[in-house]
Amino acid sequence: MKLVQTINELRAELAPLRKEGKTIGLVPTMGALHAGHASLVKRAVAENDVVVVSDFVNPTQFNDKNDLLKYPRTLDADCKLLEEYGATFVFAPSVEEIYPEPDTRVFSYPPLDTVMEGKYRPGHFNGVCQIVSKLFLIVGPTRAYFGEKDFQQLAIVREMVRKYPFDLQIVGCPIVREEDGLALSSRNARLTPEQRVQALQISKALFTSVDYGKTHVLSETRKFVEDCISRAEGLCLEYFEIVDGNTLQPVHAWDESDYIVGCITVFCGDVRLIDNIKYKCKE
Ligand code: PAF
Repeated sequence: MKLVQTINELRAELAPLRKEGKTIGLVPTMGALHAGHASLVKRAVAENDVVVVSDFVNPTQFNDKNDLLKYPRTLDADCKLLEEYGATFVFAPSVEEIYPEPDTRVFSYPPLDTVMEGKYRPGHFNGVCQIVSKLFLIVGPTRAYFGEKDFQQLAIVREMVRKYPFDLQIVGCPIVREEDGLALSSRNARLTPEQRVQALQISKALFTSVDYGKTHVLSETRKFVEDCISRAEGLCLEYFEIVDGNTLQPVHAWDESDYIVGCITVFCGDVRLIDNIKYKCKE
């Protein structure tokens, strides 16, 4: 595995491989790798000849500067893990390498990016599309891998690929959870032991609501989850929306769509955690 820090070097490494007809998998990350990333990288390794993992804390997607400052940076540990997982290249550029000048491109995909995270984190998805599109242009991947934990991000990246258009396949990978149910996230590292216990109520509320939803109408199910979180110590609900999995717009009845997902964001102390659950699924 090779650590590459410039765009030119990465392009020079990939050009001959591409000429040989090798497939290239890209796993975009912001580092602080955990088992959720491992599942993306391992899948990319299984499905491609060459795997590039980007490890870059993208400043343009942070609407809260404090959040950017606190974001964990663990490149050395990340490289050790990526070697184990079988990645070919780690691409860890500097901010100046990616943004030698401010990126003024505007990506707008309403209504996908106007709800939920788009509403509470203005500019976030614009920043995500800026970095992800740059990575696609730099790497030219055959396939790119994204986790379903960031459900809205995945939908928006798919839309960007369709509209741009980029010639690659987007692969969505299932949420990876701790044994007790907590969705894996780099932000979990910031939870105190007490908060770690409190945060468990998020996935618990979502899992329980699946059964609850079988005997209750949608609005009651939404309220059930909201009540679970407001009763839970140490948690503060930002939003819980039950949406159509394709349009991300709120649905009001279980028979309104055959793809229904509940998306939640909760503060545990000052740590912002997101999770989601599928109530009705396409497959
Ligand atoms: O999901 C993330 O970690 C980031 O939003 C991504 C896709 C790596 C872009 O910085």
